[in-house]
Amino acid sequence: MKKILLIHGPNLNLTGLREPGVYGTDTLAAINAEVVTKCERLGMECAVFQSSSEGALIDRIHAAREDCAAIIFNAGAYTHYSYALRDAISAVCLPCVEVHMSNVYKREEFRHHSVLAPVCAGVIAGFGKHSYLLAVDAVKAIIG
Ligand code: DQA
Repeated sequence: MKKILLIHGPNLNLTGLREPGVYGTDTLAAINAEVVTKCERLGMECAVFQSSSEGALIDRIHAAREDCAAIIFNAGAYTHYSYALRDAISAVCLPCVEVHMSNVYKREEFRHHSVLAPVCAGVIAGFGKHSYLLAVDAVKAIIG
């Protein structure tokens, strides 16, 4: 069974509590459970990882080379400036779908730019928890 890695970056552990008007009231654990269930329904295994530390995220991306076929990644604010995460995604040569729960283009100017997008297969933003579920479909279409 193909395995995918779902990664959440900084502050996303507080999903459900943090700015509920922007990110909704579902907890990260509840969203992860839905993503894992959908993956299983589509015949894929899903590992989940969250860290607010850039180095830990980079190490997990590197480790994905061993056993993962694709990555779904919400890098939070690192999206907008972390060249180190961009290089990590590029280095592992795994298809990566960039995800945002909010519509970053409707928000502050600094959120309009992603340094990760050029090394990702695509970007899904603005659909709350459904952004993650849509990313599962995207990954399935890519890796089969
Ligand atoms: C986010 C958008 C980012 O700009 C922000 O820093 C986040 C969450 C989203 O899911 O909408 O932490 O990635």
